[in-house]
Amino acid sequence: MNFIDNISSFQNIIYIFSSILFISGIKMLGKEDTAVRGNFLSALAMLIAVSVTLINIFNPLLIIIGISIGALVGSLIALKVKMTSIPEMVALFNGFGGLATFFIAWSEFNSSIDNSFQYILIMLTVYIGGVTFSGSIIAYGKLSERLKIAKTSIITKLFTTIFYISLVYLFYSAALTEIFIPTFDFFTILLVLTLLGGVGFVLPIGGGDMPVVISLLNSFSGIAAAFAGLLLLNNVLIVAGSLVGASGLILTIIMAKAMNRSIGNILFVGYAASSPSSKSEETGEVKPINVSDAYLILENANSVLVIPGYGMAVAQAQHVVRELGELLESNGTEVKYGIHPVAGRMPGHMNVLLAEANVPYDVLVEPEDVNPMMDTVDVAVVIGANDVVNPSATEEPGSPIYGMPIIEAHNARTVFVLKRSMSSGFAGVQNPLFFKENTRMLFGDAKDSIGGLVSEFKE
Ligand code: TAP
Repeated sequence: MNFIDNISSFQNIIYIFSSILFISGIKMLGKEDTAVRGNFLSALAMLIAVSVTLINIFNPLLIIIGISIGALVGSLIALKVKMTSIPEMVALFNGFGGLATFFIAWSEFNSSIDNSFQYILIMLTVYIGGVTFSGSIIAYGKLSERLKIAKTSIITKLFTTIFYISLVYLFYSAALTEIFIPTFDFFTILLVLTLLGGVGFVLPIGGGDMPVVISLLNSFSGIAAAFAGLLLLNNVLIVAGSLVGASGLILTIIMAKAMNRSIGNILFVGYAASSPSSKSEETGEVKPINVSDAYLILENANSVLVIPGYGMAVAQAQHVVRELGELLESNGTEVKYGIHPVAGRMPGHMNVLLAEANVPYDVLVEPEDVNPMMDTVDVAVVIGANDVVNPSATEEPGSPIYGMPIIEAHNARTVFVLKRSMSSGFAGVQNPLFFKENTRMLFGDAKDSIGGLVSEFKE
């Protein structure tokens, strides 16, 4: 074995070691007490894998500078970002992953191509990486509400058409052989169509479906990275890319299921098709309640189900919520937390917040477990949740959220809804729960309202 062979064997051994660390780290993310270490382990694995790749690079300085700038910018963004904006940040980071593979495949096209497998791989990597990049930028714009282009607008239709053209062109490009290379610069056209196609892929998808799309784009970025790994014959890139690709796809399926939508329906039909005929401009009167009266009811409750949603994240009320839970328990009340899979703005949002506030995992319950026993719950305390407790989803076929499984808070004996006003949630529809006979609205910022209840208990 010569020196070069020795180095590449050494690199491969380290790559296998890094891959084991990745997988162990990801597995550790599944449990509250090991999650932080798991995250660290996976990041360390990535650092080791990247460092060992530098060994046989002629001038690693440029790459080290690139890594340092990337690490600095990434850390600054991650430190600054608000918890509620993490999905947007994930969208951006996915996009940059896609852009990196787009560039890798582009540069491979410009070096020598040995066989048709490599050639097709380049076309696919350029396409998936490019669509991931521009699609993620649009997803970022939609989720952060910076981009407001109607799904039915002419611009959207134009870009959607370009998306389909780009798909056809991809097949055309992949089918070209040395025997039939056109005189025009077909590859530059593919690059441009790919980037525009990504815009057209995401533009027609409704804002409410963005989390699913981001998860899908995350999966795409992994697939593109795995393809880039095949191109560069880099094992660790293949393993890491496949992990991201597969886990992103599984998450996409889980989230689509939680919203009772098929992925095809989300990507190619969207919320719009579920007809805007919702009659949810609700009539009737709401019954407000104040903190003192709410306290009296809670003090006498045997069982309380806390249902947190996006508003709890906005109010950063998780710590006072935990405190209230503990006070209720010491008062002899059984307290559980109903966690909807799409409550908040990112997968696991409520779990993360409650874990941060040290709420034990074993008191968290899923909709399918809590719904059958809802009539035994004395008080359902809905904290900044709206869509995920909206009965229209089960009762009103015309509603845009019809079919989405919900936590059936309205079947509890009494419901407290904590929010600041009567405004709608993410899906933009009114919630008949607010007008039900057994519902009391506790208006105000969730942290203030819960804080008020905590003070009442302490007095
Ligand atoms: P939403 O339906 O968005 O409702 C949140 C409610 O919180 C609002 O009605 C708002 O009412 C209230 N709120 C906001 N700030 C508050 C504060 N400081 N104090 C008290 N209340 C406050 O939330 P949800 O029930 O959690 O449903 C999530 C929605 O987001 C679903 O439609 C889901 O599909 C979508 N989505 C989910 C994800 C993921 S993966 N979780 C990602 C993107 C979108 P006021 O303004 O009246 O206070």
